[in-house]
Amino acid sequence: MSRILITSALPYINGIKHLGTLAGSMLPADVYARFQRSRGNETLYICATDEHGTPTELAAAEAGQDPASFCAEQHQVQHDLGRRFGLSWDHFGRSSSPQNHRLTQRFAQGLWEAGFIEERVTQQVYSKFDKRFLPDRYVIGTCPHCGYGAARGDQCENCTRVLDPADLINPRSAISGSEDIEIRDSKHLFLRQSLFSDKLRAWIDGKKGDWPLLVTSIALKWLDEGLQDRGITRDLEWGVPVNAFEWGSNPKGELPDIEGLAGKVFYVWFDAPIEYIAATWEWADAQAAEAGRGPAPDAEWERWWRGPAAADVTYVEFMGKDNVPFHTVGFPCTLIGSNERLEADGSWRPANNAPWKLVDRLKGFNWLDYYGGKFSTSQQRGVFMDHALELLPPDYWRWWVTANTPETSDATFTWEQFQAQVNADLADVLGNFVNRILKFTETRFEGVVPEGGAPGDLELKLQADVAAKLAELTENLDAMEMRKACQSLRQLWVLGNQYLTEAAPWTAIKTDPERAATAVRTGLNLVALFAKVSEPFIPFAAEKIALAVGEPFPGVWPTGSTALDILPAGRKVAAPEVLFKKVENEQVADWIARFGGAEGQ
Ligand code: MF3
Ligand code: ZN
Repeated sequence: MSRILITSALPYINGIKHLGTLAGSMLPADVYARFQRSRGNETLYICATDEHGTPTELAAAEAGQDPASFCAEQHQVQHDLGRRFGLSWDHFGRSSSPQNHRLTQRFAQGLWEAGFIEERVTQQVYSKFDKRFLPDRYVIGTCPHCGYGAARGDQCENCTRVLDPADLINPRSAISGSEDIEIRDSKHLFLRQSLFSDKLRAWIDGKKGDWPLLVTSIALKWLDEGLQDRGITRDLEWGVPVNAFEWGSNPKGELPDIEGLAGKVFYVWFDAPIEYIAATWEWADAQAAEAGRGPAPDAEWERWWRGPAAADVTYVEFMGKDNVPFHTVGFPCTLIGSNERLEADGSWRPANNAPWKLVDRLKGFNWLDYYGGKFSTSQQRGVFMDHALELLPPDYWRWWVTANTPETSDATFTWEQFQAQVNADLADVLGNFVNRILKFTETRFEGVVPEGGAPGDLELKLQADVAAKLAELTENLDAMEMRKACQSLRQLWVLGNQYLTEAAPWTAIKTDPERAATAVRTGLNLVALFAKVSEPFIPFAAEKIALAVGEPFPGVWPTGSTALDILPAGRKVAAPEVLFKKVENEQVADWIARFGGAEGQ
């Protein structure tokens, strides 16, 4: 037994997520978490809504709500949808939680006192009309390089040149369009990431061959380009307040400028990853409350995250490729910096505290596209979680998305391919197998698992084939190779159909009832096995299948030798109602009309 800590990139609070977000973090993390639990490993799967930042403030304003109530409402929506999709979070937290406020401030204070944070005065665009500072991308104007009229202050979309808002001709606020803007000085805290280059490089070099190439190459590219110190505060209202008031002096004996930093909040990318830890704290508090205890002692969440108590934890992160830099550079700087101290002479020494765990295994994904274009939240292009559940049960989506996980390259969703694949895999292979054998048991064996005779050649061959496929499936899941894992599972289901066709109990029963009984017993054991090993992927159907053979997820993850010995003779079984209805052409036509298809690009 070991302990597995799993985090999936935190979905932004604004907007219901589309299949692309599911594919690139939450769903593979869920499949992996279910697999680990099924193997008997103590597993903690943590997720949360990522609630801070300018887009949240603007979305709240657009909805006519204050950010706090907007976020509370949207969190509930995402929580419900996640549950309905079967995402088995141990905790779905909120980056705006009191725990995250405390922890973010503690990390910042620690980093300040250790010498890794510096104050700098920066020039920020202030909109007098909007009465707020504008982040670079909310300033628009004419690009000085190509003349494009709606260039954003961080980058020109047209010529892709990186810009500074001060470069723009006729700059104006993207929020109100007001041109009444000016540049103001504003004091901010900077995390001195540039100091961490060597430590990060050594760490990431050590992960080559273990992490996907996609991940190490993105991380090393950032290091090769030279790490920049990063501003970790913003002139916003909604966020974790900087609260510099309680901080001690840094190694040079300086205190933070309380007045200059008043009213600022931490940058969303500073506090969001800290929420992984804070959500674990939220989880511990919720556990304690459930047991009728007060707030959890720190040790109860720290045992997943720091010091010797967390030594047996394997920490696994799931995310889309755009998130990789923040998880291989930004967050590790926060954690490593909190384990160290920078002396006034520039030397490092270990801080006198229990060190924080860094990620052990990082799984990054490419994009899932919609007909070769982007899923887009702002343009409502693609399939979103709420609509998906209106159309079909969650397992259809879970299966298709997992089987098409964008691992080695981008993948694309089309309704046509979706229909073809779920019909073939779920309805024709798995559903048909389960139905065939159970119906036959009902009509010819009174719905009872027969004793049968000793395994014959066919059964021995099946056992060997099943054992091999099972080992492959286990290996692929262990390696977080989701597409390959789906392939192995599908092939396992196919073995079931092939066996039934060859053993043909419906023929055997006419001449050799014992032979038929052996085949039926074997087939029913395959059903029980399929229920168990399909559960991480399609938990809802797996539960129905398990119930059909009266075996709600017996024991732990099976291995070859016992895989076909699950059901005792005499057990009552019953065919489930239809497991997977086929997706019909008319449905697909409807959905293409509603959501857009190939021609709508
Ligand atoms: N909300 C971010 C996104 O969707 C991911 C945040 S991951 C975390 O891209 F580490 F910051 F939590
Ligand atoms: Zn341009």
